[in-house]
Amino acid sequence: MELWHKQDLHSGDRKRLFLAVRAAVDGSTVLYPGSYVDISASMVFPSVTYVDIDKRTPGFFSDTDTIANIIVAEGGSPETELTFIDGDYTADLGLKQDSFDVLVSLYAGFVSEACTEYLRVGGVLLVAPSHGDAAMASIDPRYTLSGVVISRAGDYRVRTDSLDSYLHPKKETPITRELLHERGRGIPYTKSPFAYLFTRTS
Ligand SMILES: C[S@@+](CC[C@H](N)C(=O)[O-])C[C@H]1O[C@@H](n2cnc3c(N)ncnc32)[C@H](O)[C@@H]1O
Repeated sequence: MELWHKQDLHSGDRKRLFLAVRAAVDGSTVLYPGSYVDISASMVFPSVTYVDIDKRTPGFFSDTDTIANIIVAEGGSPETELTFIDGDYTADLGLKQDSFDVLVSLYAGFVSEACTEYLRVGGVLLVAPSHGDAAMASIDPRYTLSGVVISRAGDYRVRTDSLDSYLHPKKETPITRELLHERGRGIPYTKSPFAYLFTRTS
């Protein structure tokens, strides 16, 4: 479990993020592509499918007893369903389309572009801005911005008011998929929440 302890530099931080998201969304099944060993979603949600291509992750996820102990010690349920897929999230993951309630995209590239097909209509994408995936979701006609996650002093809060004031680029640049792939990083916006929630509307 050395990998998990290395990852968990800010104790409980991710768990608090997922607790705030869970309180704001309607759903229990989560798909987390590009998770590495961030199992904190399982401390909060009852069913999480993790996907990663890093060669260290299969060994980590195979230690199911230790993972279960960590999850329970952090307040998760002993009944939690945890699945790990060792693979590339841009390839066919063999998952049912339109089936997950929440799709997580945290610092792992263009997850929304590759995996929205697995999110049900009405489901929610949690996406951080830094790799450009929030900008990608903002131009994806399947999504509508439905919340922002504000982080302050290690606490997370979801806001759903004044959403029109977000996603305004500092520089007037037409945002396209091509531009985002070329940049491989986020667009500087006038406001910088920790993350965004987009609801899949079609
Ligand atoms: C910077 S880490 C972020 C890990 C985790 N999401 C977090 O926020 O702590 C990015 C992870 O995404 C994974 N990743 C990147 N592209 C991927 C792909 N196409 N398929 C599966 N995993 C991918 C990498 O292997 C790596 O573990």
